[in-house]
Amino acid sequence: MALQILVTGGTGYIGSHTVVELQNAGYKVVIVDDLSNSSIDVLDNIEKITGIKPIFEQLNLVDAERTGALFRKYPDLQAIIHFAASKAVGESVQIPLHYYRNNLVSLMNLLDGQRKYGVANIVFSSSCTVYGQPEVLPVTEQTPRKDAESPYGNTKRISEDILNDSIRAYPELRGIALRYFNPIGAHESALIGELPLGVPQNLVPFITQTAAGLRDELKVFGNDYDTPDGSAIRDYINVVDLAKAHVVAIERLLNKKNKAKYEVFNLGTGEGLSVLQVVKGFEKATGVELNYKIVDRRPGDIEKIWADTTYANQELGWKAEKGLEETLLSAWNWEKRVRGIQ
Ligand code: WQD
Repeated sequence: MALQILVTGGTGYIGSHTVVELQNAGYKVVIVDDLSNSSIDVLDNIEKITGIKPIFEQLNLVDAERTGALFRKYPDLQAIIHFAASKAVGESVQIPLHYYRNNLVSLMNLLDGQRKYGVANIVFSSSCTVYGQPEVLPVTEQTPRKDAESPYGNTKRISEDILNDSIRAYPELRGIALRYFNPIGAHESALIGELPLGVPQNLVPFITQTAAGLRDELKVFGNDYDTPDGSAIRDYINVVDLAKAHVVAIERLLNKKNKAKYEVFNLGTGEGLSVLQVVKGFEKATGVELNYKIVDRRPGDIEKIWADTTYANQELGWKAEKGLEETLLSAWNWEKRVRGIQ
């Protein structure tokens, strides 16, 4: 019988792509999501891609009683991938208590359920934001974490500590934290992708919405950074490559290949690209000229970050494979399908 994996936040951007890769790898998936930042239509689109409609439970994991009932309903769960969290940096500054409650209480309820109902394995969705602005680049897993620039980033750091301390204290638990750099792009089918509610905060959805005519122009937040072209540098990783890394991490735990009860891996490409390089890459990949304007820096942004991927490549045997232009084209194809553009 196929091993059953619980994917929290599984109708979200990275979650949905990971569900597809889990199903492709033969796992049975139970999605739990509160649909606060995603659409239930994602389930049908996952089914169109894989032929399998995931089991779905609408639930906010902050509800301890209903979270416990979830574990009782699915006694065969072998592992959890925990994506469900509020994730908008700017919004987190406005409503920090929502972010701390939603992101931390949900994790603690999951860990309580794991202990009570015997689910040993958890893969946690973390972020390179825990590094702040690194002093030394590229970033390795040993690079010191820094105080977060936002409550969102702080919840990621605190969540890692909750996970680490719980795994250390409770012998029955083991887990992996995956620190994502900047996930971009969409599934090649254009059936799933990033669909931000309202005005996109992230670069690539803003680019594709500008190209689709939903936004007048892209604002490039600063060109006075200490970088070759003055715009800020990030490590942009294809979301399908990222999703595949989650399957590798789950199998590492299920097959007990982990070398410690708690492990951390950076998931990036190892290449830093500037905002203007991404803009040019989009224009080259799609043939669509982008209307953009250089404006002031965005408060809270760091200048540059990219990953040293050696450890993830060697330990996980995983490497990001898709290049920038292929990835940006996939984001554009997704945007065109969502907006009904030929
Ligand atoms: C990338 C670059 C912007 C929009 C954050 C979180 C991270 C993760 C991804 C959740 C920056 C510039 C952006 C725009 C721009 N979040 N930019 N114009 O801030 O690196 O990371 O989102 O999982 O944890 O920290 O991503 O896409 O917002 O910005 O010039 O309209 O693009 O200044 O240099 P960021 P981003």
